[in-house]
Amino acid sequence: MSGVLIVGAGQGGFQLAASLREAGYAGPVRLLGEEPGLPYQRPPLSKAFLKGEADASQLELRPAAFYADHRIELLHGRAVAIERAARRVRLADGTALDYGHLVLATGARNRPLPVAGADLDGVFYLRTLADAQVLKARLAAARRVVVVGAGFIGLEFAAVARALGHDVTAVEATLHPMGRAVSQPMSAFFAEAHRAMGTRLALSAGVVALHGRDGAVTGVEVADGALRPGGGTVFPADLVVVGIGVVPNAELAAEAGLEVRNGIVVDETLATADPAISALGDAVSYPSVHAGLTVRLESVQNAVDQARCLAHRLTGKPAPYAAVPWFWSDQADLKLQIVGLAAPTDSAVLRGDPASRRFSVFRFHERRLTAIESVNRPADHMLGRRLLAGRPSLTPEEAADEGFELKSLLAR
Ligand code: APR
Repeated sequence: MSGVLIVGAGQGGFQLAASLREAGYAGPVRLLGEEPGLPYQRPPLSKAFLKGEADASQLELRPAAFYADHRIELLHGRAVAIERAARRVRLADGTALDYGHLVLATGARNRPLPVAGADLDGVFYLRTLADAQVLKARLAAARRVVVVGAGFIGLEFAAVARALGHDVTAVEATLHPMGRAVSQPMSAFFAEAHRAMGTRLALSAGVVALHGRDGAVTGVEVADGALRPGGGTVFPADLVVVGIGVVPNAELAAEAGLEVRNGIVVDETLATADPAISALGDAVSYPSVHAGLTVRLESVQNAVDQARCLAHRLTGKPAPYAAVPWFWSDQADLKLQIVGLAAPTDSAVLRGDPASRRFSVFRFHERRLTAIESVNRPADHMLGRRLLAGRPSLTPEEAADEGFELKSLLAR
């Protein structure tokens, strides 16, 4: 059988299958997923699902009938090797799937905590529905919760755990919560907001060991400047959630001889060096027209828009991938939205008053707008998506001036 074989049935893989049909692709489409069940949305796992506001079936991207109606063959299994010469993917159960075009939408996996005690009972990660189901069940009986890593996962989870009444401590290796993705003023705002929610936040506190008794976790030890187990503060815990970033699932590509550098290397059309293999989503490094360099983005937007771009190429309408990156995170009543890509050294210009819990931070590189981070100001975000799709002429002075109508820029 020829056709398109998609390895990975997350948001990106699913979207490619759907977009291929939308674009009129008539050949076979097979979508291989490692997890059981139908493709689902991950973002609600750390929010509505844990809070009990959405169940598993509500997370499904489409009902089962969609796959049959669109002739998308959903397969379950784990790909273990790509046999490029034979155009075949070998699965863990020994069977093989051939392809006309192969798309790697393999995503990313949680980075494991590299310290002693990380395998104790009561230590959880959060990425898959199965992870969330186990965590939800165990959270009900937990009292003292420690979150390792104050990134998106850690802080979203901390907000939920506080709302459910748990005692919550978040330990973060750097001085800046969410520092990978947001400016220092935004990071500081969220640090304060979480403290106000009642979360104990330990910054500059890298984990050196997890302590346990009878196989179950009892505490999280952080370095406190003394980089050795036994030298730091121990936060008591009966449940630990680790959110210290992700690793791209690029081994399949690397072992097949494709280039991997912080992800599977693709060009601006999402093609690898093998004309029969493309890749998209969290797993790929691609040349970004917005950042002016090669990036690997971990976001739903990136997976979905890359899937649409690739579906067009595979149906004869190639175009470089140029979608404006955007991202969001919900933490209690704070809706953080980010559009664009800023470098850590880009300046940060405040618009609005953080005390009002409705404000934005505009990022500039040498007076050129690169990104907007907004809290509870969706209009700034939506406008930013339009501005950053073109050549924004906004100055830092205009950004800081709340009297200046951002909308007027669209007419410039
Ligand atoms: N101890 C404490 N903190 C650590 C340690 C450690 N040993 N190692 C890393 N950290 C911190 C980092 O400094 C960072 O602030 O963990 C945080 C990880 O944050 P993210 O990179 O945002 O990763 P994570 O929160 O795990 O999110 C993973 O899920 O929501 C999606 O798109 C999001 O791709 C992201 C993914």
